[in-house]
Amino acid sequence: MKFFIPILAVLLCLQLSSSAQYPNPSIIPQPQEMKVGKVTDNFTIVNNSTLVFISDSSLRPSAEFFINFIKKYYYLDLKLTTIADANRRNVINLFRENAAIESTNPEKYHLDVLSKSISIRSNSATGVFYGIQTLIQLLPPSAKPVPLQIRAVNIIDYPRFAYRGMHLDVSRHFFDVSFVKKYIDYLAMHKLNYFHWHLTDDHGWRIEIKKHPRLTTVGAWRDGSIIGLYPGKGNDGISHGGYYTQAEVKEVIKYAAERYITIIPEIEMPGHSMAVLAAYPELSTTPKLPKKVAETWGIFNKFNNVLLPSEQTFSFLEEVLTEVMALFPSPYVHIGGDECSKIWWKQSAFSQQLIKEKGLKDENGLQSYFIHRIEKFVNSKGKTIIGWDEILDGGLAPNAIVMSWRGEKGGIAAAKQKHKVIMTPENFMYFNHSQFLKDDSLTAARYLPLADVYNYDPVPPILTPAEAKYIWGAQGNLWTEYITNPAKVDYMLFPRLDALSEVLWSPKSKRNFPNFKERLQQQLKRYDMMQIKYSKRYSL
Ligand code: ACM
Repeated sequence: MKFFIPILAVLLCLQLSSSAQYPNPSIIPQPQEMKVGKVTDNFTIVNNSTLVFISDSSLRPSAEFFINFIKKYYYLDLKLTTIADANRRNVINLFRENAAIESTNPEKYHLDVLSKSISIRSNSATGVFYGIQTLIQLLPPSAKPVPLQIRAVNIIDYPRFAYRGMHLDVSRHFFDVSFVKKYIDYLAMHKLNYFHWHLTDDHGWRIEIKKHPRLTTVGAWRDGSIIGLYPGKGNDGISHGGYYTQAEVKEVIKYAAERYITIIPEIEMPGHSMAVLAAYPELSTTPKLPKKVAETWGIFNKFNNVLLPSEQTFSFLEEVLTEVMALFPSPYVHIGGDECSKIWWKQSAFSQQLIKEKGLKDENGLQSYFIHRIEKFVNSKGKTIIGWDEILDGGLAPNAIVMSWRGEKGGIAAAKQKHKVIMTPENFMYFNHSQFLKDDSLTAARYLPLADVYNYDPVPPILTPAEAKYIWGAQGNLWTEYITNPAKVDYMLFPRLDALSEVLWSPKSKRNFPNFKERLQQQLKRYDMMQIKYSKRYSL
C-alpha cells in the first residue's frame, strides 16, 4: 500500500500528460465513422526513415501532397516507394484496392493508424486523397513537435453530397495564379471537389481568348474603383486589372486536378457584360454610346450591361465558349444568366423585333431563348450548362443545372422540374457578408455568422424524397467587391469554409455546432501554423 499510492499517482500523471499531448482527433469535416485507438498504437513519423508506399502510380499526387506538407510545415523528409513489402515497419501505405472497399462510391476511404504502419485504402485515387487530408488533420497543429506522432484511429468516411463547391470572383478584384492555387489548396483541405471560377463580369474579363484579344487588352482593365461602401465616396482613379493567359489557365487546371478538384469556368451572359461591351461595343443594344469597364458596384439595371441577342453576338459567344471548353476538361460550363438588365432589351428595336419574330412572350422569354441557344451549342460539344436561378425565368433550358442564389425558391422549382440543383442561397452561402456584427473592415453590408453557415441544410424539407435527389450539393460564394487582397480572402473565408465542409461532407445526424466549435480550435492552430489569416471573430 505504501508503494501503491505513488505508483497510482505516477500512472495518473502519465495518463493526463498523454491525453494533453495527444488530444482526441479533431477532424473537419467530421468523418462518417471514427474509432480512436490506444495512445500506445500511435504512429511516429521519423525523419529520413518513414516511407510512403503507393500501390500504383495514380496515387503519386496524394503521396506527394503529404510528403510536401510534412516537409513544408514540419521540416521532415519522407521517402516515396513503389516496392511492396508486407513486413515493412514505419510506413504509410496508400492502397487502391477494389476488393477491399465494398462500395461503388469512389470518394470513400478507410484510414487505419497503428504503431507499425498507417494504411489508407480506397477504390479510387480520389478516396485516397481524402484519406490524406484526414491524415494531415491527425498531425499536431504546430510545427516542430517532437516526436511527430499520429493518433491511432480507424476511420471509414465518404461524403454526403456529390457536389461540394466554392466560388471565387476574380473580376471585381483580380487574384494572381499563385493565390488561386493556394485557394485550391484550401478547398482540397476541406474535401471540396468543385471550384467555380467566376472569370468574367462587368468589372473585368479575366481569361485570354485568342480569337478576341480586346477582351483582355481592353476588357481586363478598369480606370478606377469606387471608394468605400457602395454607392461610395468618389473614385480612387487607380487602374485595376489583370487576366490569366491560356497557359496559366492550363497550369491551374492541372494543379486542381492533382487535388481532385474540377474547375467550372463561368462566362457571364447575357448580363454582367460591361467588360465585353467596352471591348466590343457592337455587341451592345446601344453600340454608338461610349462604353467602359465598370468602376462602381451595384450595376444591375443602372447601366447597360446586356448583350444584344444578334447573330453576331451568338457567333462571338460560340467562339469564346469553343476556346473555353477546349481549355477546361470540366463537363460543366457556367453561363451566368443572373441580373440581366432586361430594360435595355425593352428599349432596343432589334430585341423587340426578335421577340415578335420568335413568338416570345416578353423579355423573360428572350432571356430564355438566349440561354436555350447557348445550351444547344454547349450540349453539341458534349458539355452541360449551369446557370444562376434567373435561367428559370421564361422557361428552363432542357438540360440546365440551376444554381439557386436568390434563396431556395429557384432550386426548389428546378428540382420539381427534375433538374439538378446546387444550393447557394445568399442568406447562408455568401461569404462576402460580414462574419460578425459591426465589422469595421469594409464588407458587403450584410451579416452571415458561422452558426448560420453550419446549420444550413441544402435539402429543403418541402421536397419529396424523389425531388430531393436532384439537390446535387451546395456551394459557398465569395464576391470580391470589398475583398481586394489575399489576406482579406482568408479573413472572409475562414472559418466559414470549415462549416461549409461539414454541411457538405458529414452526415446530417452528426452535425453539432458546439462540438464543431471545439474541433475548430485545433484547426485554427493549424491555420496559424500555415499562416492563414482567418477571422478571429466569427460569432456574435
Ligand atoms: C449573384 O449573386 N448575382 C449570383
